[in-house]
Formats: sequence, structure tokens, C-alpha cells
Amino acid sequence: MTIPSLLAEKIRAALAGIADVHPQVTVATDARFGDYQTNVAMSLAKAQKANPRQLAQQIIDRLDVGELCEAPEIAGAGFINFRLKPAWIEQRLAQLATDARLGVPLPARPKQFVIDFSSPNVAKPMHVGHIRSTVLGDALARIAEFLGHRVVRDNHIGDWGTQFGMLTVGWKTEVNRTALAADPLGEMERIYKLISARCKEDPATLDAVRQELVKLQAGDEENLGIWKEMIRLSQAQFDSIYGRLGVRFDVTLGESFYNPWLKDVVEQLRELGIATASEGAWCVFSDGTGKPEDDPFLIKDKDGWRPNPAMVQKSDGAANYTTTDLATLEYRIKTWAPDEIVIVTDGRQQLHFQQFFAIFRRWQPELLAKVRLAHVWFGSILGDDGKPFKTRSGETIKLAELLDEAEERALQLVAEKNPDLPEAERREIARIVGLGAVKYADLLPNRQSDYLFSWEKMLSFQGNTAPYLQYSYVRIRSIFRKAEGARAGTTVSLTEPAELALAKKLLQFGEVLPQVLDDYRPNQLANYLYELASTFHSFFEACPVLKAEAATRDSRLLLCEVSARVLQQGLALLGIEVPERM
Ligand code: ARG
Repeated sequence: MTIPSLLAEKIRAALAGIADVHPQVTVATDARFGDYQTNVAMSLAKAQKANPRQLAQQIIDRLDVGELCEAPEIAGAGFINFRLKPAWIEQRLAQLATDARLGVPLPARPKQFVIDFSSPNVAKPMHVGHIRSTVLGDALARIAEFLGHRVVRDNHIGDWGTQFGMLTVGWKTEVNRTALAADPLGEMERIYKLISARCKEDPATLDAVRQELVKLQAGDEENLGIWKEMIRLSQAQFDSIYGRLGVRFDVTLGESFYNPWLKDVVEQLRELGIATASEGAWCVFSDGTGKPEDDPFLIKDKDGWRPNPAMVQKSDGAANYTTTDLATLEYRIKTWAPDEIVIVTDGRQQLHFQQFFAIFRRWQPELLAKVRLAHVWFGSILGDDGKPFKTRSGETIKLAELLDEAEERALQLVAEKNPDLPEAERREIARIVGLGAVKYADLLPNRQSDYLFSWEKMLSFQGNTAPYLQYSYVRIRSIFRKAEGARAGTTVSLTEPAELALAKKLLQFGEVLPQVLDDYRPNQLANYLYELASTFHSFFEACPVLKAEAATRDSRLLLCEVSARVLQQGLALLGIEVPERM
């Protein structure tokens, strides 16, 4: 059990007969006043119109925490502060050292997750925007699994839609086979752009595009063959990027997988009166049950609230992204009976998800009764100029090229830092550092904020970066190499403030990790790891390890060893590897 849960349980017992609540215990905001705190007396006093400090005293009088804490103290308006006893920290740390889960508790009941992430579009190179979905979704999946939950990782690739009309015309008339072999996604993107531009001025091309699309939708063999080939070529390139990033999926059910259900979805929505006819299309409007400000089918302009409907069938009879997502959600719930469905995309799709979740709730509320639905959205990556990150010539940056550049830049750094390493090892370290830097820079900011992409910053060995954390790990490992046979002890004795501070930080790993899933924010883990590394460095500066006398040395080595393990495990949960040297 984590320390906050342990304290919460004790407080709950002390409250017997006074109130039945689940007290919140958090890490103290100011270490001078203690290690943990609770505001339970304040919130209870408010509800019972009592004096919070008196209530706090009453709780303390009945509280039995002598084994783990010094006498609790009341602070401010009625906070109760707890300071852990060194002897108890020693005992917990010794346990942590033998715990393969590093203090991370298993859930009482494992949950089933479906995580929809990455989800790039066929015939288009994955661009820098897809990195956030891929890296965030992968980290969430790793964390959920480590926490003991079951996860289905679903890559909902965009493999259907009107773009295939243009692509098919381009494929039949313009494709350059040599270019296609060399860079399939680049060539498919080229023919798409070419035909799309031509459509604007040439009605005959537009007509051809429509016909090819109709043929594809009707199951024409030739067009289906071309479409499948485009998917195959795209998937091969996606897979090469996933391989580099160490990202895997359990299923890849693209949009086209749901085609057989779409007619039926629209029909049901029509029969239930959820979708109504509007200029030849079928749309969903507000049902007027919610507050306008929470109603995704209303939008405000100078004249007040006006309808902002979601289309589920276009006037030409074709279904769209919303229809597909409705069918997708139904399939996922019926197939995996998940507790949580998490979809990771950029913030521009917020309205789409609000509308489609609302439609589903009106359509099949009973299916949603037990599911937590989350659109986990993120902001944009910006260039130096504060505008969306582009190449100098204004083109979107391709993910594969970005990863190449990351490895190359890291290689230069490694070569400078460690010129004696053999070439192959240097390259391997550069791979780990370069990819780690890109992933970490992406995971560190609050996901909903935009962030400035900066090679200098993300590859720096100072500050809150992957190289800094990786280097911290390497430094700890080198302690063990430096003294042949140096081995962590099995008992701990903590006397220096820096030792205690480090031990307490280590004990927090199991508290921080479950919180990441509350609001799907891996940045909380990133920040924890940075604090841990900084706490480790302060300890290492203040407390000699190898030069200390035997008992102290072994205890400090144990602190070192657990620190390395938590850093390695924490980074692994963010999808980041560590080198053994750098
Ligand atoms: N293919 C979409 C894109 O590139 C993302 C799909 C996300 N998943 C979903 N179920 N809508 O933006």
C-alpha cells in the first residue's frame, strides 16, 4: 500500500463516528512543514459548519500513526501535516529494493482499456503532428499495463474516404513506378496533390475522380486492388517508424473495417429521430436538453446561439468520419467490454469528439453506462517563429526525417563527449539519446499546450530533458563499475538530510504512477523523474558513496541502485531507453 493510502486509511479510522469519507492525502507542498498533508479537516468542517482547526485536533487525538510518523501538526486553516520517521523510511526503502514493481500497487480490479492512438492516414507520410499521438498513446498504454490493467492498442488508420477517388485517378494515370518504389508515401502524396489541383480547373478530371470513387465503393476489382496496394505500401512505412520508436499495436482496424455497418448506423439514427434530413443530408441537431454552453450542437455568434449540427450522411449518400466513429465505438464496446476507451488526437478534433460522444449517448446510452470515454487531445508543435513547425520551405516535416536528424545530432554530441567509443556503440547510444530526446520533449509539456520544438533544448544534458535523465542513470551505473564488486547492501540507514530526501522521492514512484491515468498526463511521470534525478544529484554531491565506511557505503549503494532502477523503469514507461554508457 502506498503511503498516502496508508495514511488515508488511518485517518478514516480516526474519523469513525464523526464522518465517513475518503480523505485525500497528498505530498506536502512545502517540505519544511512535512512530507504529506491532508485537508480533510477543512472540507469536513465546511460541510459540518465546524471549526477546522478544532476538527483537525480532534482527528489527531484519535489518530494512530506513531509507527510511521512524528506527531502530526496542524498548519494554516486546518491542514494536518505528517512527517515520516527515518526508521520507517529505512524499512520501506529496504522493501522497495526487493520489490520488482518498485512500490507500484496492483489494482483491486484490473481494468480493460482500449487505446486508439497514432492512427495516421494511408497514402500520406506520417508527419510531425502524428508523433504526439503516437508517443502519448504509447506511454499511456505502457503505464496502464504496468499498473496491472489490460490494454488493446488500436491503430485506427485513415484508410477510407473521398481522397481515394483522386488517388486512384493519379495511380492510373500519373504514378511514377521508380519513385513509388523508392518512396511510396511521397509518391502517393505527389499524385494526390497533382490530381487535387487539376480537379480545381478541369471538370473532366473531377468527373473521373467521382467515377473512380463510385467504382471503388461499389467493389470494382481493379480499384479495390489499387486501394489495397496503397494500404500495403503505407502500412510498411508506418511499421518502419513504429519499429524505430518501439511502438506496437494489438489491432489495426482502420476506418474501412467499419464500412459494413455504416448504412445501419444511419438508418437507426433516422428511425430513432436522432438524425434529421437537412438539404439532402442527414444531420444531428441539438436535442435542447443541456445548457447551451455545454451543447456541442450549438454555436454562439453575435445573434445568439445557432445550430451547429453534425452530419452523419452526406447528400450523395456517403457516410463520413462521424458515422465511422459511431460504428467504431459500438464495435469496441461489444468486442472488448472496456472500462475505458481513450482516443488520442490533436486538439482541433475536439468538436468532432464532443458531438460524436453526444450522438452515441443518445443512440445507445445503455452501452455507455459502464465506459469512461476520453478524447485525450494535445496542442501543436511550433517552430522557432511560434507558428506550426514546418521545414524552411514551408512544408510539413516528415516524421522519418525528423527521427533521422535526431539521431544524427545526438551522434555529434556523443562523439564530442566520448570520442574513444567504438563507432557501433556510439551509433547505438546516439539512437537511444536522439529518439529519447524527441519523445521526452513531446511528453514533458502539459499535453494541451503548444510547445516550441527546439533541438538545442531537447538534446541538452542540462535541464529537464531525456539526455539529462539518461545521463543520470549512466552516472549511477558507473559507480558500480568504478568499484569492482561494489554491491548494494540489504539494510538501509539514513542519517543525512540528502539521503532522507532521496529515499522519500523514491517511495513516491508508486504514488505518482497511478495518478498519470486520472487525466491521462504522462508529463506527471516525466516531472517526477526529473525531480528524482535532481534529488539524486544533490545526494551524490553531499554524500560520498564509495569512500564512505562499509555500512554507510552499502546503504548508499542501495539508494543508488534503487534510483537507477526507478529511472530506468520510469523512462521505459515513457517509451524511452537508457544506454549503459554515454
Ligand atoms: N486518422 C485521424 C487523423 O489523422 C485520427 C483518427 C483518430 N481516431 C478516431 N477514432 N477518430 O487525424
